[in-house]
Amino acid sequence: MINSPLMTVMVDAVRKAARGLKRDFGEVENLQVSRKGPGNFVSAADRKAEDVLREALMKARPGYGLVLEENGVIEGTDKSHTWHIDPLDGTTNFLHGIPHFAISVGLERDGMIVAGVIYDPIKDELFVAERGKGAYLNNRRLRVSGRQELADALVAYGSPYLGRGDQPRLLKEVAAVMQVTGGARRFGSAALDLAYVACGRNDFYWERDIQSWDIAAGIILVREAGGFVTNADGGAEPLAAKTAAKSVAAGNEALHGELIAILRKANAA
Ligand code: IPD
Ligand code: CA
Ligand code: CA
Ligand code: CA
Repeated sequence: MINSPLMTVMVDAVRKAARGLKRDFGEVENLQVSRKGPGNFVSAADRKAEDVLREALMKARPGYGLVLEENGVIEGTDKSHTWHIDPLDGTTNFLHGIPHFAISVGLERDGMIVAGVIYDPIKDELFVAERGKGAYLNNRRLRVSGRQELADALVAYGSPYLGRGDQPRLLKEVAAVMQVTGGARRFGSAALDLAYVACGRNDFYWERDIQSWDIAAGIILVREAGGFVTNADGGAEPLAAKTAAKSVAAGNEALHGELIAILRKANAA
């Protein structure tokens, strides 16, 4: 585990918000579900969890800025530090009673992600990482998978909401990946997709049209577990370019480069 004051603040906030999610899971008729856009849902569970996280983190670190999925940006007086918060990653799963969703909190310092917590309250899996201190699942130190062969690899991807993103492009990429790997999965939580790369369950994960709150915590988890993170074209880390449309690709050292090459080739075809 990581025993730092920062990690204590983050874990306490996340566990507190998770209690509400656990209570609300399965209560969809009482959750005032609405649509932010086609196929893009939000509920009282998302909003309540975000309120808990915002209050706890603002109290513990008053000057830090926040980027919140449901409430937008809150500028801080401390311009170096920003929280990237997804109160419920996997809302669609949550609302369908599928027990695969998480809370994700990442901390950016001067443009670099320095700490992340991802918590899956149903499986009680707490993923934490801090720069230079490693990545952990509950109390176990994490290491990305050691798989070397594409044919053995399990690859996760994300797909855009209804009517958004470049679906024909994604279908080409998925087809190319399916033809050479051991399996392709669309699990429905970007944060857990990255956490699963960090702990070696997924060998690679990619997604286009993704937001900072989906991936901030996962980026540091994968890096601290010895993995590689770039954008989906193999370029600079997704959060490095604030204005560009974000994409992400993460994997172990052996397979990351090979899968980026496969995505490139699929797009060139
Ligand atoms: C979504 C999930 C999904 C990913 C989408 C995200 P949300 O987040 O992470 O797996 O494919 O791009 O927006 O809306 O459930 O927090
Ligand atoms: Ca959402
Ligand atoms: Ca999300
Ligand atoms: Ca969310």
